Amino acid sequence: MGKQSAWAVAIQKKRWLLMILALFSLSTAMVLFMRTAFDSCPTNTNSSSISKHFGEDKDTNTQIYASNPLDFMKSKLVLMVSHELSLSGGPLLLMELALLLRGVGSEVVWITNQKPAEPDDVVYSLEHKMLDRGVQVLSAKGQKAIDTALKADLVILNTAVAGKWLDVVLKEKVPHVLPKVLWWIHEMRGHYFKVEYVKHLPFVAGAMIDSHTTAEYWKNRTRERLGIKMPETYVVHLGNSKELMEVAEDSVAKRILREHVRESLGVRNEDLIFAIINSVSRGKGQDLFLRSFYESMQLIKDKKLQVPPIHAVIVGSDMNTQTKYEMELRNFVLEKKIQDHVHFVNKTLTVAPYLAFIDVLVQNSQARGECFGRITIEAMAFQLPVLGTAAGGTMEIVVNGTTGFLHPVGKEGVTPLANNIVKLATHVERRLTMGKKGYERVKERFLEHHMLHRIALVLKEVLQKAKTRSSS
Ligand SMILES: *[C@@H]1O[C@H](CO)[C@@H](O)[C@H](O)[C@H]1NC(C)=O
Ligand SMILES: *[C@@H]1O[C@H](CO)[C@@H](O)[C@H](O)[C@H]1NC(C)=O
Ligand SMILES: *[C@@H]1O[C@H](CO)[C@@H](O)[C@H](O)[C@H]1NC(C)=O
Repeated sequence: MGKQSAWAVAIQKKRWLLMILALFSLSTAMVLFMRTAFDSCPTNTNSSSISKHFGEDKDTNTQIYASNPLDFMKSKLVLMVSHELSLSGGPLLLMELALLLRGVGSEVVWITNQKPAEPDDVVYSLEHKMLDRGVQVLSAKGQKAIDTALKADLVILNTAVAGKWLDVVLKEKVPHVLPKVLWWIHEMRGHYFKVEYVKHLPFVAGAMIDSHTTAEYWKNRTRERLGIKMPETYVVHLGNSKELMEVAEDSVAKRILREHVRESLGVRNEDLIFAIINSVSRGKGQDLFLRSFYESMQLIKDKKLQVPPIHAVIVGSDMNTQTKYEMELRNFVLEKKIQDHVHFVNKTLTVAPYLAFIDVLVQNSQARGECFGRITIEAMAFQLPVLGTAAGGTMEIVVNGTTGFLHPVGKEGVTPLANNIVKLATHVERRLTMGKKGYERVKERFLEHHMLHRIALVLKEVLQKAKTRSSS
């Protein structure tokens, strides 16, 4: 790179100032780096092939992305039905797609099936974000909703629960709409496998699911539990937004965020930080992580290893709710007298500053793991190695031994994770190389244009099917 012009520096300054502002202003109006760290879903391990998948295509020819893969959606009418509008993973992802489709000139209509009775800041700010970009927002019920569904080229239902909308609103018109429905599924808890939600699933044009393991699990559970068959199922791995990549690749912004957040937490620049960025809950495994962390501190002490001080950071704590689980975590820290090494950070929408200030991401989701786990690819974009559980979507993202290390779920994983923490603390070169390899992997297959390319293939097939079915 040549010398930066004063202009470029000014732009950069402005950008990181904005980010720091965003960091300390948790107002929902500043949905700057909206993201999905808090998406969740235990999924089953062990995957075999699913009918169709677009998760593995490598970007061998960047030329094909010169034009937007969604261009064929221009002037198509797309109805999106979200079960709710909140800052959780599913709705935000659908919203992201709504804005991307607007970007190529689709006509997009948005319906939120369940809205809080009271006026809600989050709903207000998200709806306005969409309205500003020309998405139409309709009320869930009424003739307008029915007419739009009948007229639409494509209807996207988001999450299993959105299935409730079909019967309640469309009533006898349901069969007319099903052939053009694409059902996007991001979750996996037992209570989603309810006939009342998913009974129409076999008759829609297709299902789109975030990982192979999740798709396998749905296939199995719908068959075993409900006796229904999944429609054609497309696995579509997610990608990082352009905004996130921009920060991840801006070394000046990253350095400033790193120093700033470290200073605010009282952590020195040369100390090593291992962090979980996820909502605080047993399913995300913060308790087991703290046990591993404590064990790794013991190991370092016992073996008299020469490493910088290490810290554990739990991003996602929610002081307002003060759950029993969170108290348990805090008590553990006090009991083991490691409070100088463990930091709790409030739940946040702005993950970029946290990814900039840590050294290793820990993805410790338990049971069936993450559905996909977008934070994993976000961390890799920031050149961070990932220590993850060998479960769910994490196994489709992290290459064990190359971009991070995998450890088993449950108590069996505590010591392996502790060993992996020590490994990365002692081998600086290895840690940095793993981070770089993770970044390369993201560039190869987990960018927005990869996701769009995969989604485009699905949308094309669904449109094609809808056409042939309606003309037959
Ligand atoms: C499918 O489900 C059954 C029972 O629910 C379970 O025993 C089996 O291991 C599952 N198979 C896969 C591949 O997940
Ligand atoms: C975390 O949230 C609590 C309660 O909302 C608040 O009192 C506290 O100041 C927050 N901490 C930080 C560092 O923002
Ligand atoms: C990951 O790799 C390590 C060795 O680098 C190995 O011991 C471990 O069993 C592997 N785990 C999985 C889930 O493949």
